[in-house]
Amino acid sequence: TPRVFSGMQPSGGLTLGNYLGALKRYVEMQDTGTYETIYCMVDLHAITVWQDPTELAAKTRELAAAYIAAGVDPAKSILINQSQVPEHAQLAWIFNTVARMGWMQRMTQFKDKAGKNAQNASLGLFAYPALMAADILIYHATHVPVGDDQKQHLELTRDIATKFNHDYGVDFFPITEPVIEGAATRVMSLRDGSKKMSKSDASDASRINMTDDADTIAQKIRKAKTDPDALPSEYKGLDDRPEARNLVNIYAALADISVDQVLADHGGAQFGTFKPALAELAVAKLSPIASEMTRLMADVAEIDKLLAQGAEQAREITQPILKRTYEIVGMVGA
Ligand code: TYM
Repeated sequence: TPRVFSGMQPSGGLTLGNYLGALKRYVEMQDTGTYETIYCMVDLHAITVWQDPTELAAKTRELAAAYIAAGVDPAKSILINQSQVPEHAQLAWIFNTVARMGWMQRMTQFKDKAGKNAQNASLGLFAYPALMAADILIYHATHVPVGDDQKQHLELTRDIATKFNHDYGVDFFPITEPVIEGAATRVMSLRDGSKKMSKSDASDASRINMTDDADTIAQKIRKAKTDPDALPSEYKGLDDRPEARNLVNIYAALADISVDQVLADHGGAQFGTFKPALAELAVAKLSPIASEMTRLMADVAEIDKLLAQGAEQAREITQPILKRTYEIVGMVGA
């Protein structure tokens, strides 16, 4: 069976972008039953920028609760916290020796996150994509559902697998397929249609958080930036209207219908009508997830137990792959 791996950083609350671009897709891939699915909280990635230790632990558990509340089922998927499966970090070291400085320097996310003062960024932030490649390849995963912003990192993952296989003369690591699909691969800010919706945006009004209550969600959608025109009845009518297009894409993804269908149903409507419809849909889909998260968070011991079980299942896959990697590389005692 083809294997799916994906992960999210436990470094802040989840946004609607994380949900529609990734988490909802995880659940869909899990529920097709055609894949073996492995989903991860990447705590080792999170600490590439400073994290308060108490907060990190709390956010890791909260992310686990979000996965489960959204429909990741520990009976169907392997659910893990990255640092509990040490083979991720061990393979990442090997990949640090495979990846080239020049490849890493081209990563736009590193440039964005490091900002102007790149000399002051952690070495881990620079090496981040090599750990990401290790996350995926330690399972020989073939499919990786992510939002559009991870595309470059997944290309690097393919480059690392190719160079490893070539340098050692083996056909060992698979060439992974990114799965960037659906209406919401890039959910934009509600305040600026040219910016990605992000948990790090200074304006809370720019995003919908998975833990926002119904009133907050409705208010943020009501205040979302739009233009004065009615919705078109065809997708090309959204060409120069990024804010309108974003809301239509969000509607389609939440409702599990095509963008064409949204426009067939709402073409000609003013935002004064469409926004309340979108708000109602968003609340109907997100509120049950938020309340299930709260319920799950009340039992931290249960979350920790699930993560310990997930790590045990994961290591049945990762230990033999690391052992074989060490043998290929020539490490005594592998
Ligand atoms: P992270 O934690 O930034 O985001 C988690 C997932 O959410 C997607 N996403 C979005 N999708 C659509 N619209 C948006 N506005 C939006 N914002 C975020 C991201 O594309 C991602 O799929 N490097 C990864 C974590 C990672 C990983 C991995 C992913 C570590 N190892 C291995 C896949 C496989 C990251 O920082 O995601």
